[in-house]
Amino acid sequence: MKAIAVKRGESRPRVIDVERPNREPGEVLVRTLRVGIDGTDHGVIEESHGNFPEGEDYQILGHETVGVVEEAGDTDLDEGQLVVPTVRRPPAEGTNEYFERGEPDMAPAGHYVERGIVGAHGNMCEYFTSEPQFLVPVPESLAETGFLVEPISNSEKALDMMYASRSTFEWNPEAAIVLGNGPLGLLTLAMLDDHVDRQYCLGRRDRPDPTLDIIDKLDATYVDSRETPVDEIPEAYEPMDMVLEATGYAKHAFQTIDALGANGVGALLGIPDDWDFEVEGGRLHREFVLENKALLGSVNSHVPHFEAAIETLQSYPDWLVDDIITHVYEPEEVDAAFETGDDRIKVVIEFDSL
Ligand code: NAP
Ligand code: BGC
Ligand code: ZN
Repeated sequence: MKAIAVKRGESRPRVIDVERPNREPGEVLVRTLRVGIDGTDHGVIEESHGNFPEGEDYQILGHETVGVVEEAGDTDLDEGQLVVPTVRRPPAEGTNEYFERGEPDMAPAGHYVERGIVGAHGNMCEYFTSEPQFLVPVPESLAETGFLVEPISNSEKALDMMYASRSTFEWNPEAAIVLGNGPLGLLTLAMLDDHVDRQYCLGRRDRPDPTLDIIDKLDATYVDSRETPVDEIPEAYEPMDMVLEATGYAKHAFQTIDALGANGVGALLGIPDDWDFEVEGGRLHREFVLENKALLGSVNSHVPHFEAAIETLQSYPDWLVDDIITHVYEPEEVDAAFETGDDRIKVVIEFDSL
């Protein structure tokens, strides 16, 4: 079967031919429909994040997937059911407490692999197998868009953690900013209407630009980081109750402390490269303490977040998903699919359709 993989020593993914996987007892065989590409995939290709499966000289990419159950075996799933797989799986040594309690997203490094990212092959191939506990059923209406459930689920988890951190007092957030106008940033921005009155989104682009058009259509305010650095947002606009960072630009982690108002909370989602720089440690520490601010990191997600993401995806207006999915390619068009450019937001590889 066809798979899109990066080979060791190569900097561009390509189509390779691999054996169709054999379903083990208790597993399901899934026929892949669509797999999205995100900033993390580019990090995997550039070797700034993730690693190849043990002993392999290639890694199949892909972690934003929607597929259909082809062989259900002796599981409770029905053949023909549309599913979205979660990303983390137990490491080679076997399961552990995080998986056993249904919280693999909280496992530290070494206690998991991530399909298509950390030490495991992904789903950018015609078929993959999985235990049913890692497959979340989705309605048939999401056959073309269901791969967006995974990235949305990452932000559902971040929002859960943000609310949990502010749950000990009466907190009524009014203003929120998403840092980053990539696909994760825009999908997250679209979620915030249910949480705050005023939404902002940070980018570094000139108009006309398709991501800025989406920010406008969502009635959010565009903040250009070239004119307004993140730490100057309170003076230029207003102090933020919530900051969701999705740029992977490491300075934003620290500038977020200044962007927040008293009692605000920031969540960091981006995955930056190494970068050494100076921060005003004493002032930021003081600010944190005296203003009851919170800053947290959030990675991955699990079944409850996927279930929330299905609801969220279904609540988005049709225009939003149409505008975000800018490019659909066949596997053979792999070179074009992994190009970058300001005209593309979410690029997807289509292996099959329902
Ligand atoms: P992406 O396509 O790389 O998007 C990042 C966006 O941030 C781009 O639009 C970029 O603008 C913008 N940006 C970067 N630096 C900026 C700056 N200094 N000022 C203003 N805008 C800036 O990636 P993505 O798929 O949306 O994902 C975002 C980040 O989250 C990535 O680091 C990804 O690895 C990570 N991620 C983490 C999780 C998690 O579970 N924690 C889940 C998914 C993704 P330009 O395009 O104009 O350069
Ligand atoms: C994926 C997450 C993953 C994270 C770190 C993100 O792009 O969507 O599932 O945990 O990268 O590898
Ligand atoms: Zn991702």
